[in-house]
Amino acid sequence: MSVSRAAIWKHIQKLREDGYVIESSPKKGYILKKAPDLLLSNEIREGLTTEIFGRGDIVYFSETDSTNTRAKELADQGAPEGTVVVSEKQTDGRGRKGRNWFSPSREGIYVSLILRPGISPDEAPKTTLLTAVAVAEALISLTLLKVSIKWPNDILTNGKKIAGILTEIRAEIDAIDYIIVGLGLNVNTPDFPDDIRENATSILIETGKHFPRVTVIREYLKQYERYYKIFGRIGFEPILTRWKELSNIIGRQITVEATGTKHTGQVQDIDRDGVLILKDNAGKYHRIFSGDVILM
Ligand code: BTN
Repeated sequence: MSVSRAAIWKHIQKLREDGYVIESSPKKGYILKKAPDLLLSNEIREGLTTEIFGRGDIVYFSETDSTNTRAKELADQGAPEGTVVVSEKQTDGRGRKGRNWFSPSREGIYVSLILRPGISPDEAPKTTLLTAVAVAEALISLTLLKVSIKWPNDILTNGKKIAGILTEIRAEIDAIDYIIVGLGLNVNTPDFPDDIRENATSILIETGKHFPRVTVIREYLKQYERYYKIFGRIGFEPILTRWKELSNIIGRQITVEATGTKHTGQVQDIDRDGVLILKDNAGKYHRIFSGDVILM
């Protein structure tokens, strides 16, 4: 095949450095004994049946500040819908409201997707709800855990946060240029820093089992594509219906803090745009687009 032994050896060494366990046997060749649980693009692609997400570029980092920041740069340069940006570790993982996202190396999934949906900017919150449904479905199908969604985009299991979503958008007044949906999912994280330990959990903590992260990300991309296609072909209704089934919020008494305001009352509904409808204790109705919810 016109490849020298030395060239093959060099590649094998590189794979070994990445954590692949490869045995060599004189005169016979090499045998792959074990692949590491890395989110390398060729590993993610193996057996992936999607047509949009992960079909084109899967941009891989062993370390970066934030996959959302990287994805935004790529989107600004014209990267197409379906581009996936993934990192083994984030040094400045960003959460909602300027918080940071705990992103230790090779323990969780830190991934951002580029979307270019043909919807108006005021419909953008729908994609956050869609993402939450896709994450919840992926977790349920792989782990059988009882998963719920806390509006707008926290994924909980056993009352603790297992995943979070950060949606960022670039738009003109009447058209979306792109949306970046960033997912942080705690997979094999054995423990958390003191300040979040009480409220955070991982698949490992809940099931007692290590899950190959590559299997989890593949399932997420598959579920994402399923719901994204439903959104494009049928509309938001079926997604909202599933979101409501998975959420624990309707009818509950809550306090919600949103951009300088704080309301306490009963959740009446999540409307067709994904907006939370709250009846406060004085009987007044509020439409809340985004905020932090405390369940009472
Ligand atoms: C939250 O619940 O506050 C949202 C957390 C979102 C974290 C993910 S990890 C991948 C992507 N890159 C980031 O910097 N943030 C999101």
